[in-house]
Amino acid sequence: MDINCTEKELFLLKKIAHAAGELQMPCYVIGGFVRDKILGRPTKDADIVCVGDGIELAHKVAERFQPRPNVAYYKNFGTASIKVEEFEVEFVGARKESYRYHSRNPEVEPGTLEEDQLRRDFTINAMAISLNRDDYGKLVDPFNGMEDMKAGIIRTPLEPGQTFSDDPLRMLRAIRFASQLGFEIEGVTWEGICLHVDRIKIISQERITEELNKILLSPKPSVGLDLLYRAGLMHIIFPQMVDLAGAEYIDGKGHKDNFYHTLQVVDNISQHTNDLWLRWAALLHDIGKPATKKFEPGHGWTFHGHEVVGGRMVPKIFTKLKLPQNEKMRYVRKLVELHLRPISLTKENITDSAIRRLLFDAGDEMDDLMMLCSADITSKNKFKVRRYLSNFNLVRERLQEVEEKDRIRNWQPPITGEMIMEVFGLPPGKIVGEIKNAIREAILDGEIENSYDAAYSLMVKKAAEFNLQPVR
Ligand code: CTP
Repeated sequence: MDINCTEKELFLLKKIAHAAGELQMPCYVIGGFVRDKILGRPTKDADIVCVGDGIELAHKVAERFQPRPNVAYYKNFGTASIKVEEFEVEFVGARKESYRYHSRNPEVEPGTLEEDQLRRDFTINAMAISLNRDDYGKLVDPFNGMEDMKAGIIRTPLEPGQTFSDDPLRMLRAIRFASQLGFEIEGVTWEGICLHVDRIKIISQERITEELNKILLSPKPSVGLDLLYRAGLMHIIFPQMVDLAGAEYIDGKGHKDNFYHTLQVVDNISQHTNDLWLRWAALLHDIGKPATKKFEPGHGWTFHGHEVVGGRMVPKIFTKLKLPQNEKMRYVRKLVELHLRPISLTKENITDSAIRRLLFDAGDEMDDLMMLCSADITSKNKFKVRRYLSNFNLVRERLQEVEEKDRIRNWQPPITGEMIMEVFGLPPGKIVGEIKNAIREAILDGEIENSYDAAYSLMVKKAAEFNLQPVR
């Protein structure tokens, strides 16, 4: 079998082969490593299956390295792993039954290589390459994984119902591989998924979200997201997305299908960024639409305030999906809340103060926000798109102009709350906030200059309205 391994990988595989030879233990490299090597994708770990005790083999391999790597092992599962210079190798003894990940009943019954391959998830993940002396490098592929690989097909080695009930996460894995590799899910396998969607409920949220993130990071995420929807899995794991689907009609007036619009926006942005959180912002940008949808007679469908409602939904969705509750979440929320702002600027006279305000509100996220907004232009009407884009470019130019002139991004007003308290001998409180806001608003509106002196004068004037005089 001709695969392109790095020097380091070859060195490692040879060491494993020698250790297994010494133990007279048949051993193979299997799964994702083989699949990704054939596809020419990067690899950062390898799974080794041996007909014998995987933990014993891992120790034997570790002995051959200086310094000797630590062997992490799980006796119940019969698995062990070592790390050699960031490359992780996992060892497992061939088994008769399925890989029940984190199962409460981990007893494993030893089996042959073919029995082991049969209980893996897909034919393209069940291919093994021999590390044995007599047939080193030979491909062992009893279920025609290679053919499926060439045809770009995802298929279970067993009857799909069996494979999916062994580990229901595999339904998401099938869809994730389809999205990541641009493969098709074979008909019977697809029916198996549709039939067993309910079983996903027994899978931990962490494992589900890991797959969802991988789908979002795939080259064209709409492939995976649409499959999730069509299988009925989205309804269980992310029902808010399903609420976006469909178009309602009243008096012959409809609105666009916000689910497919969202998928288009995610694909658009994915052409420009691999950042997971910016892709999440694209996925959630219209999530507040179902809750704000109204039909206004004579006018049509409106979604007033959907960006605010959507912003409020972000922390709830992040909690439910066990996504991080940190600055990543705040970043996504901010982009969802601001996603209409640049577009609304294109509809009005673009004043300096409107631009300054946007720069101030978006701060470091300004460029990402502009990327999200241009990805959001998905109309089928070419004229409309051209008009939007040219207005949009105008906003871009104006943003640059105003930024160069006023340096408003990451700007802080020249007078702080502490200064106000010191000058007027005030404790922290509402009045300090009001004076501070008045200064900020006046500068953003261009009523006063962005300078310490101008801000100081306004502070004194504003404080006088509260009968306050400087105490120093
Ligand atoms: N596997 C399986 N069922 C699962 C998970 C994994 O049968 N639910 C098997 C497959 O043979 C898979 C191998 O274990 O190739 C290794 O699993 P893992 O490292 O999770 O996935 P990879 O296939 O290597 O792919 P990725 O790293 O992209 O997740």
